[in-house]
Amino acid sequence: MYSEKVMDHFQNPRNVGEIPDASGVGTVGNAKCGDIMRMYLDIDDNGIIRECKFKTFGCGAAVATSSMATELVTGKSIKEALQVTNKAVMEALDGLPPVKVHCSLLAEEAIHAALWDYAEKKGIKIEGLEKPKSDISEEEEEEDY
Ligand code: FES
Repeated sequence: MYSEKVMDHFQNPRNVGEIPDASGVGTVGNAKCGDIMRMYLDIDDNGIIRECKFKTFGCGAAVATSSMATELVTGKSIKEALQVTNKAVMEALDGLPPVKVHCSLLAEEAIHAALWDYAEKKGIKIEGLEKPKSDISEEEEEEDY
């Protein structure tokens, strides 16, 4: 049911933990399943993401997608990180079962929330970034899987 990559990232998640004095921190939840995700970003003066870590009360698919998402955004510019969508993460993991697709949104939204936090702290605007919701379950209903 799950790809080898999903199982690997679920059993050995990368970048779990916190970043003290992070440049940006974002937390999102899904009220329907009750899962919560928090992402920490360390962004240098050139706008490059040096480090990304996560903590979650989430299901296995949320753990695996977040683990992969942290790897995909590390070393990227903010603009490039915005292109790391949940679809890109799922592709990198060789897919997820349809009922688990929504779990991958937690990682994407938490990264956006952390970038939003970074922009607010810096007093800058990140083009293409919309204010993230703290609960993504409403958004899901509009998503077309
Ligand atoms: Fe809630 Fe997977 S069931 S994130």
